[in-house]
Amino acid sequence: MAGRSVVVGVGHYLPERVVPNSEFEKTLDTTDEWIRTRSGIERRHFAADDESTSDLATKAAEAALADAGLAADDIDAIIVATSTADLTFPSAATMVQARLGMTKGFAFDVQAVCAGFVFALSNANALILSGQAKRVLVIGAETFSRIMDWTDRSTCVLFGDGAGALVLELQEGAGTSDDRGILATDLNSDGRYKDLLYVDGGVSTQSTGHLRMQGNQVFRHAVEKLTKTAETALGTAGLGSAEVDWIVPHQANIRIIQGTAKKMGLPMDKVVVTVQDHGNTSAASIPLALSVGKQRGQIKSGDLIVTEAIGGGLAWGAVVLRW
Ligand code: UT7
Repeated sequence: MAGRSVVVGVGHYLPERVVPNSEFEKTLDTTDEWIRTRSGIERRHFAADDESTSDLATKAAEAALADAGLAADDIDAIIVATSTADLTFPSAATMVQARLGMTKGFAFDVQAVCAGFVFALSNANALILSGQAKRVLVIGAETFSRIMDWTDRSTCVLFGDGAGALVLELQEGAGTSDDRGILATDLNSDGRYKDLLYVDGGVSTQSTGHLRMQGNQVFRHAVEKLTKTAETALGTAGLGSAEVDWIVPHQANIRIIQGTAKKMGLPMDKVVVTVQDHGNTSAASIPLALSVGKQRGQIKSGDLIVTEAIGGGLAWGAVVLRW
C-alpha cells in the first residue's frame, strides 16, 4: 500500500477578451503568418482592466471544486503558481482562500515562472505524502499581459492570460505504477541562465518591469531539457515513453512541443495542444491544457500523463501522473 495524490477535480477560466494575431499587425512590424509559423499561436485571451490574477484563479478553483463535487472547506491547502500576483503581498493564494470562503488550512504562492505549475504540483504532492494535507487545490494563474512591452514584437505576441486548477486528494494505492495519482516528479533550475528570460523590474528595484527574453536561446535549451526531465520522471516511476497516453506540455511554442514529443519517440496524437488558442500563459498553461484536454474527451481516467515545462530561471521539471 502507498499514499498517492490523486486528481479528483479539474477546471479552468479564460478571460472573455480574445485577441487574434491580426490585432498586432495594426501596431507592430509583424504578421499573423510569422506568429503562427514561428510559435503556433493563433489567438490569446487578455484579462479585462478590472480583472486580476486572483480573480482568474478563483474562477478556475471554483470550476475544479465543482468538478470534484467538493466545497472549499473540504480543502486543507491552496497553492497558486504565479509570477503575476495581484499584490506584492499577501499571496494570491490567500486572496483565493478568502474569496472561496475557506477559513481553515493554509495557502501560499509558488514562483517558478513557466515551470511554476510543475513545481506547485510537486510541492502539493510532498505535503500530501508527508501527512500535512489531505486535499490540496493547486492553481496556475497568470496575467502576463500586465508585464508585456507592447513595443517589443519578439515577446508581446507570445503570451496570454488564464488560469487552471486541480484538486489533489490523498488516496491509498497499491504502490505500483498502475496506481492513479502522482507517480513521480523531477525538478531542476540553473540560475546562471537568468538573462535569457526575466522581468527587468520588481519590488526591490521599485518598478513593475517588462518581460525580456532571448527567445532563440531559451528555445535551444528547451527540447533537450524537457525531454531529459520527462524521461527522468518516467524512469523514477519505473515507466518509459511507450507507456505514456498523453504528454501535456507547457504551451510556449508548437515547435518546442513537437521537438520534445519527437525526441521522446511519441507521435503528436499523444500530445494535448492548446497553444494555438491560449498563447503562452506561463504557470497556467499546463492546468489549462489538462482541463481542456479532459473537456475534449482526450484525457480519461487511468491515462498515464507526463507534464513538462521550462521557463525563467531557468527552471524546468516534469510530473508523471495517472489520471
Ligand atoms: O515559456 C517560457 C519559455 N519560453 C519559450 O519557450 C520561448 C522559446 N522561444 C521561442 O518560442 C522562439 O524562439 C520565438 C517564437 C520567440 C522566436 O522564434 P525563432 O525562430 O527563435 O526566431 P528568432 O528569435 O531567431 O527571430 C527570427 C527573426 C528575427 O529577425 P532577423 O534577426 O532574422 O532579421 C527577429 O527580429 O524574426 C524576427 N522577429 C519577428 N518578426 C516578425 C521576432 N519577432 C517577430 C515578430 N514578427 N513578432
